[in-house]
Amino acid sequence: MKDFNYYAPTQVVFGEQSEEKVADLVKHYGGHKVLVHYGGKSAVRSGLLDKICNLLREGGLEIVLLGGVVPNPRLSKVHEGIELCRREGVDFLLAVGGGSVIDSAKAIAYGVPYAGEVWDFYSGKAEAVTCLPVASVLTIPAAGSEMSEASVITNEDGDIKVGYSNDISRPKFAIMNPRRTFTLPPYQTAAGVTDMMMHTMERYFTHDTDMTFTDALAEAVLRTMKDCVFAVLKDPEDYRNRAQIMWGGSIAHNGLTGCGVEEDWSTHSLEHELSAMFDVTHGAGLAAIWPSWARYVYKEEISRFVQFAVNVMDVPNDFSDPEGTALRGIEAIEHFYHAIGMPINIHELLGREITEEEIREMARKCSHDGAIRIGGFKRLAREDMEAIYRMAK
Ligand code: NZQ
Ligand code: ZN
Repeated sequence: MKDFNYYAPTQVVFGEQSEEKVADLVKHYGGHKVLVHYGGKSAVRSGLLDKICNLLREGGLEIVLLGGVVPNPRLSKVHEGIELCRREGVDFLLAVGGGSVIDSAKAIAYGVPYAGEVWDFYSGKAEAVTCLPVASVLTIPAAGSEMSEASVITNEDGDIKVGYSNDISRPKFAIMNPRRTFTLPPYQTAAGVTDMMMHTMERYFTHDTDMTFTDALAEAVLRTMKDCVFAVLKDPEDYRNRAQIMWGGSIAHNGLTGCGVEEDWSTHSLEHELSAMFDVTHGAGLAAIWPSWARYVYKEEISRFVQFAVNVMDVPNDFSDPEGTALRGIEAIEHFYHAIGMPINIHELLGREITEEEIREMARKCSHDGAIRIGGFKRLAREDMEAIYRMAK
């Protein structure tokens, strides 16, 4: 087991009555004037936004509203938020939405007290030393940003989508009412489950094989999410299974399933280039990349892929043919992706193959012009990235 530092300070308030506590929670964490940040229409249509605003006002808090965050959230909206918060004297950010809204809120939170350009943090030029407090009322279980230290922002200037991780941005609290996820379209539900499973898979494929307990936690997350998704696709108002997924999404990405292991994250890095170039749904992009990544790297540690095939994907273990078992595990997840309406390659994701030029451009950006490698399970150089995109095209 590798040494590790597990830090997950977010207070989780879960259940049907959880929203009622929003004003007390904001006050508890020091907020007086709150930026209520939200996305397109879903939180308006459902009445959630109005409800949260009313509860905050009734609790004696001042509010400022900023909507319009889009999936793959943009830097221009972050700039707008920073300016607004400074002008209004906002001291607390409440994201009502999913990963995109929470990530936008985190970026605004870094930017308000910073004298320079907030993109400095994302481009690696500076480290944030302080930020405004952030919290969320979660409406889509997927990105795990409600408990994570990460935020992922797209800079429209050059279509650059990158993440910045810093523990100071971990949300103070997350309000999770599974009932709020009943309105999710099937595609978002499936993409969300794909994303949360991938957050644990990025940690599961490791050369550290002495992590029995972490493995058991990871496999529990993966198996549960894999089973529950079918129930909610069949019945979107299945509270019990919506609840498992909502909680599982947070556990999948709050660090617990990565304690003591070296993590990978190549699929995420490769996918971020896809969403930057084609503005696709993140979870669907991951499904389009992972099978090709897996076939490219599995020989690094076949036993790990056998364990995944058997313990997660229910593939019978053929002890005489570990490689065959490993490959059947990859095929099994492809069947799973298809069964929930996810793509298994880029062609299925975009409706067309990507060109050689697009492959080279994504690998160029992902490798920072060849300067960096990605991945822990197998270190991937620019040529490896190109090869995986080509396999996935
Ligand atoms: O904008 P609205 O109208 O609210 O619609 C949203 C959006 O179109 C809709 N939606 C959300 N809740 C809904 C709903 N529709 C109906 N009913 C509801 N209850 O769903 C769509 C997707 O929302 P979004 O916030 O983009 O989803 P998600 O949570 O998947 O976030 C994706 C973003 O998070 C980043 C991704 O790269 C992507 O930019 N990630 C952030 C991470 C982190 N901060 O730790 C880690 C992840 O790996 C990921 O990279
Ligand atoms: Zn993700």
